[in-house]
Amino acid sequence: MAKLPPGSKLPSFIQSYHWFRNTPSWMDQCTAKFGDIFTLRLPFSPPFIVVHNPEHIKAIFTADPDVLHGGEANYLLEPLTGKNSLMLQDGANHLKLRKLLLPPFHGERMQAYGETIATLTEQMLDRWQAGKHLSVLDEMHQLTQKVIIKTIFGVTESVKFNQLDSLLTNFSNALSKPASGFLAIKPSSAQTMMAMALKKFNVGSMRFQPGKLLPWYPLTQALHELNEFLFAEFADRRASNTPDRTDILSLLMAARHDDGSALNDWELRDQMVTVLPAGHETTTSALGWVFYFLLNNPQAEQRVRDELSRVTQGKPLQISQLSQLEYLDAILKESLRLYPVATGTPRLVKQPLRLGAYEIPAGAMLFVSTYLANRNPAVFAEPELFKPERFMEKRYSTTEYIPYGGGTRRCIGAAFAHYEIKIIMATLLQRVEFVADPLVKVTVGRRANIFLAPSHGMPIVIKAVKAKAANWQAK
Ligand code: HEM
Repeated sequence: MAKLPPGSKLPSFIQSYHWFRNTPSWMDQCTAKFGDIFTLRLPFSPPFIVVHNPEHIKAIFTADPDVLHGGEANYLLEPLTGKNSLMLQDGANHLKLRKLLLPPFHGERMQAYGETIATLTEQMLDRWQAGKHLSVLDEMHQLTQKVIIKTIFGVTESVKFNQLDSLLTNFSNALSKPASGFLAIKPSSAQTMMAMALKKFNVGSMRFQPGKLLPWYPLTQALHELNEFLFAEFADRRASNTPDRTDILSLLMAARHDDGSALNDWELRDQMVTVLPAGHETTTSALGWVFYFLLNNPQAEQRVRDELSRVTQGKPLQISQLSQLEYLDAILKESLRLYPVATGTPRLVKQPLRLGAYEIPAGAMLFVSTYLANRNPAVFAEPELFKPERFMEKRYSTTEYIPYGGGTRRCIGAAFAHYEIKIIMATLLQRVEFVADPLVKVTVGRRANIFLAPSHGMPIVIKAVKAKAANWQAK
């Protein structure tokens, strides 16, 4: 039985150029040539097998956690998130941590965030004016970062809030610089530590700091400052003893290991540095896609505005009405179908795994392509077209429509992201009319940071902004 599926014979550095430069079109080309399972060769990587057939996806998402390791497959994240991050765990450790982190993202806990999300959105809109040129990605980045700090992290006190807000902004800016990629090449934090040590190495009166010359210096510096803030916050919370808090950090601080010990500072820090960026870089790009598709589909924009008027009768939207906004929901799902933000999710093969005609050997990397799965013509009629209605007519299975990955590693923030994006869009569409910026041609298919996003920051021009109608009522 064949072990590795066919794939491009191009040198690995050329394949990796296509992979990072223009993932969607490279995926499309490989699919056209090799079918629904193919092997890429990327530098510093084991054979990289891309899959998108629902049967293969099912086999992967339901595989025994000893056979496929999603945590080990994410090793490139370690210099940023640290080794304790949920994203880097496998087996029992992974399940235990997931159980701890999940509750604030679901049910009543999550519902309680609605008012905060709407208020922060209203505050953003109060700054918007007719005639202004805006970058949707910049605006949404600021907004969703504030949302995550207030809701998930539970920082509401204004001085601390502003401090964390600016630290996270520095972190994101540093992360978006191409040089930060150097940090990810090495699968250990040794590089980070070396950079930090060099940074502190001042020579004589010139105060020469060779560490500053390292290309990844801004990122290590931003991480260092963020860590210092977090460690101070852990100490403050331990001292203040407020058992009624329900944000993630408080829950993690109250959690205990099997031996009764609490999570130490580094364990806490690693989860926070995982959830803070994962929780808003993704939603930012998703919001960028919603704008992109609304602007390119005026009928869909009109229909969603009509739906909002019908449901709210021109009054401020109530949280209980959110579930009636079916077309808005379908627009979000369809945007994430066509451009799923994260192009896929990896699993490292620990024991041989049968996928169709192939016996995938231990040591290979599997990559479930969300982008290709969500465009599978056997599942989605006219897959290239933006047709939100398809989600109102049919339910797709968890191996057919997979923007949030799947199995025991499915995104823990999926429900939260959906809820947040719908509140932001509903609040915004009630007050704002916008058009595409005529001076900029937006292109698709490139990454912003590590995620797929429309180009040029998704520019728009504001046509009109209505005053805030009345206070949001969370019911
Ligand atoms: C539109 C928004 C989002 C998209 C498209 C998205 C997508 C994904 C994907 C594809 C995965 C990998 C799943 C897998 O390996 O099978 C993932 C994992 C994860 N996401 Fe999200 N995500 C989004 C929003 C969020 C939010 C809002 C948070 C937190 C506040 C979050 C936190 C996480 C975490 C912690 C994991 C790791 C889960 C694990 O390993 O068990 N994500 N996400």
